[in-house]
Amino acid sequence: MPPTHPPPQDRSAVRTLLRLWPYVRPVRARLLTAACVAVLASCVGLVIPLVLKWMVDGPVAGGDPGGVWLGALCLLLLGCAEALLFGLRRWLVARPLAGVEARMRADLYRHLQRLPVAFHDRWPSGQLLSRGTTDLMLLRMFLAFPLTFLFVNGVTIVVGVAVMLVQDWALGLVILGPAVPLILTCAVFEKRYAAVARRAQDQVGDLTTVVEESVLGIRVIKGFGRHRSQARAFRELSRTLRGTELRKARLLAAIWAVIVTLPELAIGAALVAGAAQVADGRLSAGTLVAFLSTALALRWPVESIGFLLAMSQEAATATERYFEVMDAEPEPDPARTAGGAPAARAGDRGLRFENVTFRYPDAPPGSPPVLDGVELHIRPGESLALVGATGSGKTTLTALVPRLHEVAGGRITLDGVDITAMPRARLRAQVAVAFEEPTLFSATVGENVLMGAGDGAGPADLERALAVARAGFVHTLPQGTATQVGEQGLSLSGGQRQRLALARAVVGEPRFLVLDDPLSALDVHTEAAVEAALRRVLAGATALIVAHRPSTVLLADRVALLSGGRIAAVGTHRELLRTSAEYAHLMSGAQEPGVTGGTAPAGEQEDDAR
Ligand SMILES: Nc1ncnc2c1ncn2[C@@H]1O[C@H](COP(=O)(O)OP(=O)(O)OP(=O)(O)O)[C@@H](O)[C@H]1O
Ligand SMILES: [Mg+2]
Repeated sequence: MPPTHPPPQDRSAVRTLLRLWPYVRPVRARLLTAACVAVLASCVGLVIPLVLKWMVDGPVAGGDPGGVWLGALCLLLLGCAEALLFGLRRWLVARPLAGVEARMRADLYRHLQRLPVAFHDRWPSGQLLSRGTTDLMLLRMFLAFPLTFLFVNGVTIVVGVAVMLVQDWALGLVILGPAVPLILTCAVFEKRYAAVARRAQDQVGDLTTVVEESVLGIRVIKGFGRHRSQARAFRELSRTLRGTELRKARLLAAIWAVIVTLPELAIGAALVAGAAQVADGRLSAGTLVAFLSTALALRWPVESIGFLLAMSQEAATATERYFEVMDAEPEPDPARTAGGAPAARAGDRGLRFENVTFRYPDAPPGSPPVLDGVELHIRPGESLALVGATGSGKTTLTALVPRLHEVAGGRITLDGVDITAMPRARLRAQVAVAFEEPTLFSATVGENVLMGAGDGAGPADLERALAVARAGFVHTLPQGTATQVGEQGLSLSGGQRQRLALARAVVGEPRFLVLDDPLSALDVHTEAAVEAALRRVLAGATALIVAHRPSTVLLADRVALLSGGRIAAVGTHRELLRTSAEYAHLMSGAQEPGVTGGTAPAGEQEDDAR
């Protein structure tokens, strides 16, 4: 399924909206009660013309002031009852619908957490954000208004028309005249509006993505003086969205015009015909008054249908967008799919890659796989450095171990057990990872580090991990380990973040450790200190360490060279320096082929200085 902007397709709004039923079910009694209250309120409104008729034909015609006062009192009471009932309806639905929205949002969030990394690679975050906010708000509004009022207004119109037909069937037919053209217009409108509504909501998602990226990337934008071009891109998208919204408004205006004009014309015609009948004495003045006030009372229920339909269309679109995410398959749990307890093979301990093949799902067709037949065995307690040119697939290989991506062919075993045969939770409890990008969360330093340990970990574990990662700097922070780090940890330096990420990887004393270039941002002295401490940790763990620098490579017992999607050579640092020209080249510090020209060409720089 494409993440954004699916081609417009025929879909039934009703069928789409029916998918909300599981969420609406728990509050169905409340909603139904509220709808009945609203119907009652509307019907109370329809009694008012009948009282008017009685007043005009009775007390007014007969000159009886007492009767007029009585009628007026009745009208006042009816009006108050109508208002109170509508108020009661609002009160009945407000709380349960807020609950429905919250439940749907919680489900969406939970689902997003369970979706595979490949899904998040594919979907822009703004699209997910807008689905969790704007779309859910639209749904709550739909459940609060259109859902009830399409029903209530429908009932009101039927009852009102019946009342009018009973009063005078000929005039009633005049009023009913525009019904057919109205229904046809509504049908055409619905179809068109659905397409525009979808486009608008997708564009809101795009806009959210741009805002989010530019807020997160504010340093790059400012550093490169890109703010103007960023603003331009935003303006462009914003203008597109404005155009779509205006198109929605135009459609709404058109349907509104038709919905308002046709009934007004019919009422005018009925007034003329009715007046003529009253003049001829064939119709009582009271009946005409009652008839016309009923017709006027029906104006709002009819007129509101336009925007109720519009809101329903938007809600259908929102439902569609919500379920596009909810329908995405979460990571399947292998414990259920594999069947049978996996048997460990004796003598096959450690971390082993057997003929592992992998390609990214969104890689262009025909492109070679990133990994193609990787064979590698890291013995228990051994640490192995993984070296390769940039883009050779080192990060990809490390991501396969905690199953952030699934191998396409071959298998990976931990102590002889295929990782696809063990529950993800168990796998991830055994394997700790420090990623290339040290990601921190808006939480305290301690919480960020302890994220890598089980629930039982305490301050002692935290201190030990901080010591290994040489992250003593946290004690100089204002509140020590209780200091809140800013969003994404951007209040810390790159090296500080990297050391916290490393502390997070080692805090749980994992049996398997996967470190993706964990020391790249450190100065040589800090690096040496971290290495000395890390060596003690590595002695007890089986580790795979991606390395770019000889100093990091020397941490490991052996080195493997990844090249052309496979392991081209394995051995000690010295052996490989002797036997592999590529390895010697990578380690020599000479510029690697393919990484020249890292800076943007002059032409790319912004013209903003002008
Ligand atoms: N999410 C992704 N979707 C599609 N292709 C990807 C994705 N991530 C990486 N790739 C591609 O896979 C290849 C290997 O990338 P990878 O990040 O594993 O390289 P690396 O060896 O870690 O490089 P570096 O040393 O620069 O960190 C690259 O060609 C990259 O373009
Ligand atoms: Mg990498």
